[in-house]
Amino acid sequence: MSLPPFANEPVLELRRASERAKLTAALGELELPLRVPVWIGEKWRSGDELVSTDPGAPERVVARSASATADEAADAVDAARAAFGPWAATPAAERAGALLRAAAWMRERRAQLAALVLRECAKPWAEADADVCEAIDFLEFYARGAIELAEGAALLQVPGERNELRYAPRGVCAVIAPWNFPLAIPMGMTAAALATGNTVVLKPAEQAPGCGLRVVEALRAGGVPAGAIALLPGEGEAGAALARHPDVATIAFTGSGPVGLELLRIAADVPPGARQLKRVVAEMGGKNCVIVDADADLDEAVPAILASAFGYAGQKCSAAARVLVHEAVHDVLVERLAGAVAGLQVGPAEDFASDVPPVIERAAQQRVRSYAERAAADGTLVSAQHDVPGEGWYCLPVIVGGLPADSAILRDEIFGPLLSVEPVRDVDEACDRIDALPVALTGALFARNPRTVARVVARSPVGNLYVNRSTTGAMVGRQPFGGNRLSGTGTKAGGGDYLLHFVEPRVVTENTLRHGLVV
Ligand SMILES: NC(=O)c1ccc[n+]([C@@H]2O[C@H](COP(=O)([O-])OP(=O)(O)OC[C@H]3O[C@@H](n4cnc5c(N)ncnc54)[C@H](O)[C@@H]3O)[C@@H](O)[C@H]2O)c1
Repeated sequence: MSLPPFANEPVLELRRASERAKLTAALGELELPLRVPVWIGEKWRSGDELVSTDPGAPERVVARSASATADEAADAVDAARAAFGPWAATPAAERAGALLRAAAWMRERRAQLAALVLRECAKPWAEADADVCEAIDFLEFYARGAIELAEGAALLQVPGERNELRYAPRGVCAVIAPWNFPLAIPMGMTAAALATGNTVVLKPAEQAPGCGLRVVEALRAGGVPAGAIALLPGEGEAGAALARHPDVATIAFTGSGPVGLELLRIAADVPPGARQLKRVVAEMGGKNCVIVDADADLDEAVPAILASAFGYAGQKCSAAARVLVHEAVHDVLVERLAGAVAGLQVGPAEDFASDVPPVIERAAQQRVRSYAERAAADGTLVSAQHDVPGEGWYCLPVIVGGLPADSAILRDEIFGPLLSVEPVRDVDEACDRIDALPVALTGALFARNPRTVARVVARSPVGNLYVNRSTTGAMVGRQPFGGNRLSGTGTKAGGGDYLLHFVEPRVVTENTLRHGLVV
């Protein structure tokens, strides 16, 4: 199969009125609530144990979903195990073909899918559209990667011996996904597992079962056999039951640190009779820092910091949480950030003018507000107040300075629109503070001196370091994405090595110095 080289799906040009009109029309035409089943093979069980609502208008029900029981988790793994042999034996090019048709299915429905992401997770239009594009990118990128991987790897050959390395799929993969990239992340993990010949049971986030349904529909519409991809909506217990199943070979997880660590513990518990070690691919949270040096271009730094910290209300794993600024420019940066944050518009995701949408749910609003209260008590708030729409899980964007070094706000992943600013003597002190953190996901540096850039690059432990730009917005194939330290198992989604997590290398060595053939 010869495919054109991978290229990112272009995002919509939302400055065009015609594009905005298409999206608004798609939102108006969304038929809600969706019914989300436990979907195993051809079996479809509806239910409404789980209800997902619009974070901007919580009385609006987006999806009514069944919630999988432990028995259903076991059934799903059994079905995926039964489907594994035939799917693993399907040539890589055919598996890739199914993924590419799934991408085409999504491309045809871009506006409707973005509208669902917006409604279910309150992602503003530009980011909802980017979520759809990223899901398409993962399908296209891993389809190509799997074809390449199926060639195996070159080994040293010597006379009288033939050596071959092939990559074999591992078996059933449990995909456990978060809500904040409700199409892109579950699709990315699922596409990688399927492309390499594994079968998948997908447990979408309880906040986004509707988007989880669309992921599975796209793959089945593309031609992935029903047995090879099951949908298992539910809360954390459904994920835990799935992960514990002895026939799950790989757990692909993206989400919070504590859940990732729990999954690593589950995988380490090898029951008697087990025939395989579970592998965990875990991508977890961060506490992402932006360093601003004395010579930084503040015209560039200020909008990039705002976008990093407050885009999607700070609910990206890559969002900026701390600014470490050279003391020589601290006051001017704080003043400019304070002015800029006062201009942010807090409002519904569907309003094209909104900068800060509501957070995902009531519990998140309470968590972020309680950190904001703590910030006001322990430090100095530098941001201005806004009017918050009455309904919906809104949180004001907050910038805080003057926090004590041991403040929880400088350590915990708050996952909301709260940014701290700290003065530092120089970039080395900033690097020391970053190095003291147990997590290492993303970071940014604003500096003009190439020697400073080289010094920070050499010292930075983070998985993705951005120089003179925002901390968010990694693109498939361009910025393979994932964290180090306690931010993850070193996975780089959307990069050339990612598929290796889903396969086992097998080497065959043949003695070719035979004295004739037996025929
Ligand atoms: N590193 C990355 O690439 C990346 C990307 C996106 C989000 N994240 C992180 O995800 C978090 C936000 O997402 P979230 O709130 O959905 O995370 P979460 O950890 O609460 O949930 C993620 C998934 O795990 C499931 N789950 C919860 N408890 C479980 C258990 N005991 N066993 C098995 N599964 C369980 C949930 O139902 C959900 O499907 C943040 O910490 C963010 O930084 C990381």
